[in-house]
Amino acid sequence: MPAASANPLLPLMEFIRRMGAHEDAVLAACRSDVLALQQRTGEGGAPPITPEAGKCLQLLARIANAKRILEVGTGYGYSTIWLARALPRDGELRTIEEDPQHVKAAEAWLARAGVQDKVRILQGKAAGVMPAQPTKYFDLVFIDADKQSYPKYWELALRHVRSGGLICADNVFWLGAALDEQDQSPDAAGIRAYNRLASSTPGVETLILPLGDGLSVSWRGS
Ligand SMILES: C[S@@+](CC[C@H](N)C(=O)[O-])C[C@H]1O[C@@H](n2cnc3c(N)ncnc32)[C@H](O)[C@@H]1O
Repeated sequence: MPAASANPLLPLMEFIRRMGAHEDAVLAACRSDVLALQQRTGEGGAPPITPEAGKCLQLLARIANAKRILEVGTGYGYSTIWLARALPRDGELRTIEEDPQHVKAAEAWLARAGVQDKVRILQGKAAGVMPAQPTKYFDLVFIDADKQSYPKYWELALRHVRSGGLICADNVFWLGAALDEQDQSPDAAGIRAYNRLASSTPGVETLILPLGDGLSVSWRGS
């Protein structure tokens, strides 16, 4: 990720957290464990979304009456828990993760959160696993894997989300690099291309919410 400068929105985010984006003990432990692991090992591959982004995704899934969710990038399962808790008893969440260690850790966190029966982790590269999913099947697709592939995930998400469904993506600010045309790194370019696609695809309405590192929310019309 690009170097983080002080986020001027941080006090507002903390206010939003206090006003409703509450983590329970499992979510709080999951996020702090992942962040502590990253600090200890320098491993930067699975940063979780923020609590306010998690709460927003959960509310969107509830408002959309989502029964089927596809997630791209499980990490340690933090965002998966937020989303799975919005599902009804017979709902299903498929989540794609390529790293076997992340899969193992996510399985443990999902079990601790009591949502393991609703979640299926599909291990593999997302660009290979997504096309094998049913088309127009999911009520909500959430994208949070490798940033350079975001444009590809957008095209695939469009194929797999139902009409009237939602496509959401995290990190669309890329800590500001998404706004900086001079930054030609593959990740920044991937995010920029995603934002262009999401804001210009006919039949789709998109809004970027300033939660966490930018949460893009798209509604797919017919
Ligand atoms: C930012 S983390 C996901 C964090 C998670 N959504 C959360 O909020 O808790 C991104 C995850 O995507 C996985 N990933 C990266 N590239 C991938 C790919 N091509 N296919 C599948 N998973 C991938 C990484 O191993 C990592 O676990």
